[in-house]
Amino acid sequence: MIVAGNWKMNKTPEEAKQFVASLLEQATATELREIILLPPALCLSAVREAAKGAKLSFGAQNCHFAKSGAFTGENSAAVLAHMGAEYCLVGHSERRQLFGETNEFLAKKVVAVEETGMVPILCIGETLQEREAGKTKSVLESQLREGLNSLMMEDEVLEMGEKDDLGMDPLTGVWIAYEPVWAIGTGRVAGPDQVREAHGWIHSWLAENGFVESTPILYGGSVKPENAAELAKLPHVDGFLVGGASLELKSLLGILRSK
Ligand code: PGA
Repeated sequence: MIVAGNWKMNKTPEEAKQFVASLLEQATATELREIILLPPALCLSAVREAAKGAKLSFGAQNCHFAKSGAFTGENSAAVLAHMGAEYCLVGHSERRQLFGETNEFLAKKVVAVEETGMVPILCIGETLQEREAGKTKSVLESQLREGLNSLMMEDEVLEMGEKDDLGMDPLTGVWIAYEPVWAIGTGRVAGPDQVREAHGWIHSWLAENGFVESTPILYGGSVKPENAAELAKLPHVDGFLVGGASLELKSLLGILRSK
């Protein structure tokens, strides 16, 4: 079970360092291997420094798709990878809603992240309005199809005989996080039937579209120690993407230990 802690725009480098120091003291080696911290980009070096030598994974919350250029205030995937990030969220609902990021724009980020060797975690999920209008699957389908479009097109090229030249299979590296927008930061967790249905559907979609069966699918949206055990038992729930509850060590470890 993976627990990825999305700190969003919280914690200073000093607080990040203290968090990691306490985490190393309190978590077992097995637990540490299941945690991925996603601090603000400017805390990455503090996390790396504090984690030095320990088997603790961390990543970034966002990146720009370009390698460099006139993009004031942005960070390239390559720089994040250079700072030790092994994962990068792409298309978190806050990026989609507050910063207007479209599927097409996010598809470029997925490729940029993959090219650095980091794992892109593509976040998808429907709004309450979309769910109530019966559009959940069509929203998820377009977020997946358009967001992963470049990888799927690369695969077609590979099938035409270039696979050996590139020496890689582009359809293995991506992770998905299903986060119904109405469950993020609201305290309103999706019910087991809703999570089972969405994860089952995403799993089948990925398999039908050439992604490996084992592509991890995380659930996110108001995950807490109190609801994690029930969700963790559901088929195709490979872990959690946790916001609020990842800011406190007690609740982060509580989620990990709830199963
Ligand atoms: P939450 O956030 O756990 O606070 O609902 C989840 C997320 O935004 O990834």
